[in-house]
Amino acid sequence: MGMRILVVGGGGREHALLWKLARSPRTAALFCAPGNAGTTELAESVPVRTADLDGLTAAAQRLGADLVVVGPEAPLAAGLADRLAAAGVPVCGPTQSAARIESSKAWAKEIMAEAGVPTARSVVVTDLVTGLTALGGFDLPVVVKADGLAAGKGVVVATSRDEARAVLSAFLEDDVLGAAGRTVVLEECLVGREVSALALTDGEAVLPLPPACDYKRVFDGDRGPNTGGMGGYAPPPALDDATLEAVRRAILEPTVRALAARGTPLRGVLYAGLMLTAEGPKVLEFNARFGDPETQLILPLLDGDLAELLIAVATGRLAGIPPPGPAAGSAVGVVLAAGGYPGPFDTGVPIAGLEEVPDDVLLFHAGTRRDADGRVVTAGGRVLTVVGLGPALAAARERAYAGADAVAFPGRHFRRDIALRELGPVDRR
Ligand code: AMP
Ligand code: GLY
Repeated sequence: MGMRILVVGGGGREHALLWKLARSPRTAALFCAPGNAGTTELAESVPVRTADLDGLTAAAQRLGADLVVVGPEAPLAAGLADRLAAAGVPVCGPTQSAARIESSKAWAKEIMAEAGVPTARSVVVTDLVTGLTALGGFDLPVVVKADGLAAGKGVVVATSRDEARAVLSAFLEDDVLGAAGRTVVLEECLVGREVSALALTDGEAVLPLPPACDYKRVFDGDRGPNTGGMGGYAPPPALDDATLEAVRRAILEPTVRALAARGTPLRGVLYAGLMLTAEGPKVLEFNARFGDPETQLILPLLDGDLAELLIAVATGRLAGIPPPGPAAGSAVGVVLAAGGYPGPFDTGVPIAGLEEVPDDVLLFHAGTRRDADGRVVTAGGRVLTVVGLGPALAAARERAYAGADAVAFPGRHFRRDIALRELGPVDRR
């Protein structure tokens, strides 16, 4: 019998999850809480906010969900998966304890040390005096990280000691991030290409997904402030099959085992943010969920049945599922952002050209909704991820930008250099 699946979240990541789940013969019905103007084409919208854990649990029960897939980190860190499990609903997403691999950087460092996982040398501090002393043990630049979830504002790569001291004092003394900043990880700065390696895990078996590379800064050339992600590509040539296999053995599997040994097995996604250093891949951070925009790039390349994989994750049967084939080609994704993003931006701006996008381009909605007249208007900072697919990155990139140029709204901006560095001189002309 087919499954009734509820996806929690309302961004491009969740639209991509629904798009792939809709392609599974095991899917009977799809729901999305709260969803956006794109997800309503695939799933019934459930008007419950992602912060409303009671509301989401009640909705899952009322809908008779056979599986809940949780997109964002905040509800996981708040214990949504624990609530759903207690209500008897299978969930793809970790418990609150296992989600600490993402929600506490200090705890993640402990797990990595226990598992022997390669990562930057670090010291954890909880008061300014100790922090200033520890700072003396690091070369510049030095990385200062708030322990808790800080919506992208918790990591500073400090290029001077004065800057590092100022950040330590802001986090530890001035409480600028609240509780999230009262514990700080000081860390050696790693150099190399940054890539994302995501794997499904049921707490024991580990199944790597195609890897990806994302762009966090708002402007071309990695300038300007950090964002939720302005685009990306998959798979990155630097993370070839042999390197990914090494990452599985040295990083993903030992981490999953260490979590299980702590009595906090992780059922969901283990997402390793990696630096490919001269000494090999090292972990920058872990997330315990699908990445955004990585998911929009990875799932179209995934040669497997997502509904079958995710229910296996939720019920501890992943080892019995035949692993998906290799990534089917390449994907490039360009995020169209609202004017002003990542600063203050307008919403309610009509979006034109959604029907003009070529057939070989995928449009994943994020900050969109339908207004009273049924028009699709903006409703967030990151509005759409436009994904081009192709046999190689050059073709995928061309399709993504053809799609990005076709969609227009006042204030729209996007990066022009996504995947550019991966192209040869001929493709760059
Ligand atoms: P995180 O939230 O830990 O991924 O940090 C956000 C960003 O800061 C990462 O995506 C990296 O670009 C950068 N970063 C974090 N840790 C380091 C490190 N040890 N060395 C260099 N860059 C880092
Ligand atoms: N793409 C970065 C993230 O999902 O955290």
